[in-house]
Amino acid sequence: MIGRLNHVAIAVSDIAKASELYRTKLGAQISAVEPQPEHGVNTVFITLPNTKIELLEPLGDKSPIQAFLDRNPDGGIHHICYEVDDILVARDKLKAEGARVLGDGNPKIGAHGKPVLFLHPKDFCGTLVELEQA
Ligand code: CO
Repeated sequence: MIGRLNHVAIAVSDIAKASELYRTKLGAQISAVEPQPEHGVNTVFITLPNTKIELLEPLGDKSPIQAFLDRNPDGGIHHICYEVDDILVARDKLKAEGARVLGDGNPKIGAHGKPVLFLHPKDFCGTLVELEQA
């Protein structure tokens, strides 16, 4: 069912510092900081030949990544995103098999303008999984 790895998201407390690290130490191509107020994060996209890395920094008081950073002050891998051909078919299959979809269970428009869903980390090897419509 899952297709390509769309991105790996890394939560950081200082996105300017983190993107400079990727740019200068790793020679990565980085985007400008893009605020995503509807998701409570600032994002920087790092384009690699075969996938993307997203740096996430909390934006606003109720950022969904704040609790993660409280537990992991140095930052860390927050989620991985797999592409699926049809997000509603994928959701219904997973729910029928007992997987928990976060939020109200309906896809939201993600950082790339495509529908996304998140799956509970306890159901997927301790990893928060994002599904994105390919
Ligand atoms: Co993501």
